[in-house]
Amino acid sequence: MKRTHHCNELRPAHIGQTVTLSGWVHSNRDLGGLIFIDIRDREGRTQTVFDPSDWTKELFEQAATLRSESVVSITGKVRQRPAGTNNAKIPTGEVEVMAQSFEVLNMAEVLPFPVDDPEVANKVNEELRLQYRYLDLRRPEMARNLRTRSKVATAIRVFMDEQGFLEVETPTLFKSTPEGAREFLVPNRREPGTFYALPQSPQQFKQILMVAGVEKYFQLARCYRDEDLRADRQPEFTQVDIEMSFIEREDIYALIEGLLQRVWKTALNVDVPTPFKRISFEEALNRYGIDKPDARFGMELVDFTEEFKGSKFGVFGKCIEGGGVVKAINARGLAGATQGQIETMTETAKGFGAKGLAYIKIENGEWKSPIVKFFSDAEKAALTTKLQIQEGDLILFAADQWLNACEILGKIRLYCADVLKTQGKLTIPADQFNFLWVIEFPLLGFDRENNRWYSSHHPFTAPVTDDIPFLKTDPKKVRGQHYDIVVNGVELGGGSIRIHQPDVQKTIFEELLQIPPDMVQARFGYMLEAFKYGAPPHGGIALGFDRLIAILCNTPSIRDVIAFPKTAKGTCLMTDSPSTVEPKQLRDLHIELKVKPVASGIPA
Ligand code: AMO
Ligand code: AMP
Repeated sequence: MKRTHHCNELRPAHIGQTVTLSGWVHSNRDLGGLIFIDIRDREGRTQTVFDPSDWTKELFEQAATLRSESVVSITGKVRQRPAGTNNAKIPTGEVEVMAQSFEVLNMAEVLPFPVDDPEVANKVNEELRLQYRYLDLRRPEMARNLRTRSKVATAIRVFMDEQGFLEVETPTLFKSTPEGAREFLVPNRREPGTFYALPQSPQQFKQILMVAGVEKYFQLARCYRDEDLRADRQPEFTQVDIEMSFIEREDIYALIEGLLQRVWKTALNVDVPTPFKRISFEEALNRYGIDKPDARFGMELVDFTEEFKGSKFGVFGKCIEGGGVVKAINARGLAGATQGQIETMTETAKGFGAKGLAYIKIENGEWKSPIVKFFSDAEKAALTTKLQIQEGDLILFAADQWLNACEILGKIRLYCADVLKTQGKLTIPADQFNFLWVIEFPLLGFDRENNRWYSSHHPFTAPVTDDIPFLKTDPKKVRGQHYDIVVNGVELGGGSIRIHQPDVQKTIFEELLQIPPDMVQARFGYMLEAFKYGAPPHGGIALGFDRLIAILCNTPSIRDVIAFPKTAKGTCLMTDSPSTVEPKQLRDLHIELKVKPVASGIPA
């Protein structure tokens, strides 16, 4: 029985036709002797009706006991639904199919969780959903996410093709490089003791493609990073990876703004205004305490370093004397914060090495706080004006070195916003998209523990030309030609103009990052070599494709937009991977285990 229509196709125009539908039993109800089976496929669902007078007792019984999610083909005649029984919620709701014959293609067992309950995601734990992912993916929300993902991938390919880009695949068996996240290694059977590494991104290959004269490259690239997983991080994920030659930063901004405009139009039919706002790293930290600001709400950081210079309140006064700053935020409406909430915030501050978190609650016209008694009238007046203090406010302070103080309050600002959201005091419309370019990042950061510089982005990022003279004299002053694209507080992507002169690249590796020359040669020698034979100036960017789709699907977790994601522990619960392997496989790879593997899958 080959299907004649899909389950979202039948309309009054089909009345009288004999049709065959194939799909899953969405529901099976016995209403007053008639059986109603809703049959569902990828496109939608249609009601079929079994009238006992049309069937032998045996067949009717069989239809009545068809379990949910069994796969069937049903043939019958399309008819108008009786008056008053139309279902306006589904497009096929004006008609039904009077079943004449059916075939059970696969009888389903009792399900571990119901597929037709829209609340499944809230009721069923995610581990069970991941174990039975094929059932989870049948749910309309998940099916819609996969569809959005596919549509957006196509829109991106079409757009990039229109712009003259070539899609080039790069290897996923790559070599280990010392920068960045921890890598996944793949042992090489042919030469014991050597390993491939799975690429963290196609960064090096795409730069080599520029030397190869490709000029405009893109790829929907699979990347692998063995890092701590969270809602927005998976060990394997997809990037929209882009690189171009003979360009400047402005060219990338324009390209990505056009691309995202196309994507938003395709997926949501939303017109995104361009150009996007730009904010420097320094301003982002000063105002929002984070390099990926969610600027959809205020609660900005306010600086009080001037006002508290020489303050009698020692925590602030001494901090400023030691070169630090004092900053505050006004969490409007949070004066009623519980002790638990204040403690959570204090823990955040302590996580950054602060001794505590000073606060003032404005309640019943009073400033309730253990520290206000130390404040002078001038200090209080400054707080009142600059923070526009009013009844019900909660003022929170961080006194620390600049970056720390910003980051503490940045975290607390987001925490307060979450609390205000749950209390209904802050609402952010789901269809509000705030795009921002964050620019002028410092090229290098300093790792106090290991007493060395590290690249803020990656070591291939070019310094801002005007800052090159400081590379040797004052590295922290050097800004990178790096940019991040941020939407609603999510880092969607990042990239940079690259170094294309082998001598500058070598200086960065050896003198600033202090990678020993033999290691530079072993790891990056081929790149330095390639740059000697005609390397065009180039730059690029990579967007996190999973994050992009998660934003478009309005879900907080990228696991919801990946067909088969890993758990926070990096496992796949459906296939039970990673798993042990047979001893022979290990012998072939010249690998001997020092630990006894935990029994899983095939015994070792
Ligand atoms: P970067 O490391 O910033 O840059 O990565 C670019 C974007 O990839 C996404 N992303 C992730 N998504 C899901 N899970 C992860 N574990 C994960 N890690 C990163 C983020 C991020 O913004 N080669 C450079 C790009 C360039 O310079 O052109 C790179 O990989 O959305
Ligand atoms: P103390 O003098 O250590 O008892 O601290 C007085 C108040 O200042 C307490 O409420 C602390 O939580 C707070 N505090 C301590 N260190 C800091 C800091 N670095 N930034 C902001 N507040 C702080």
